[in-house]
Amino acid sequence: MAPNPGPEDKVDTPATDIPESLVTTLRSTQKLTVLTGSGISAESGVPTFRDAQTGLWARYDPMELATPEAFERDPRLVWEWYAWRRKLAGKAAPNRGHEALAELERRVPDFVLLTQNVDGLHHRAGSQNVVELHGNITRSICSVEGVLVEPREDDAIVPPSCPGCGAFLRPDVVWFGEALPAGEIEDAFDAARECDVFFSIGTSGLVQPAASLAFEALRRGAVVVEVNPNDTPLTRHAGYALRGKAGDVLPGLMRAAYD
Ligand code: APR
Repeated sequence: MAPNPGPEDKVDTPATDIPESLVTTLRSTQKLTVLTGSGISAESGVPTFRDAQTGLWARYDPMELATPEAFERDPRLVWEWYAWRRKLAGKAAPNRGHEALAELERRVPDFVLLTQNVDGLHHRAGSQNVVELHGNITRSICSVEGVLVEPREDDAIVPPSCPGCGAFLRPDVVWFGEALPAGEIEDAFDAARECDVFFSIGTSGLVQPAASLAFEALRRGAVVVEVNPNDTPLTRHAGYALRGKAGDVLPGLMRAAYD
């Protein structure tokens, strides 16, 4: 497997111009791990978190909406905010970036898609081997027992209550200050350590532990590719920084490698 290109021969790549060496690497890869963030769903109309003005955290205070303490303080406010986001995700459709990854999975012998996104769009695009690191907004759990519960439509109280113990239901997502699901994060670090190519797509790389995955892959000698219209802490370490939107770059990459 070709080593990571050094800083002297790294190129910022317009969407349509995929380096030949990356195409060669992709065609011969046996084990590919992808990490996605909210940027890949931006073109589907799902807001990112930290993009200026449009990002959720530019408009809302995460400490008021995405922590166990916030839910304790005002369960109705938190539930209704997630219900709004669930509706947004429900109305959204997978875009060409999601679809390209579903196709890439069919082309590579061993493929793992790690996502920080809770919108479920990768599954809806046809991706199979998906690890949801931060949960999924379309699911609800009992806030005490932690078991999956389908909210009853006719439940008058907001948030709805658990039929088992009567406690409030909450979205099945990981809030700030909470640990990620143990199995998923273990699978994620295994996939980062064992891959020969690692893609980081549409993530600012600011939230741990997901932000460490690409560096773990680098440490193990994988070729690391970043797809993002903007710089992140990973950009100068990545072997390839494909500058552009996922919905432009990924279809271009698929055409260059497999057409
Ligand atoms: N294609 C690719 N990347 C994009 C696009 C696009 N069309 N649009 C924006 N981006 C990039 C931005 O440049 C930014 O680097 O996507 C990134 C989005 O970063 P964040 O908003 O920080 O989202 P993310 O990295 O997914 O956040 C991680 O933080 O708030 C928590 O739990 C939440 O899972 C989330 C975690």
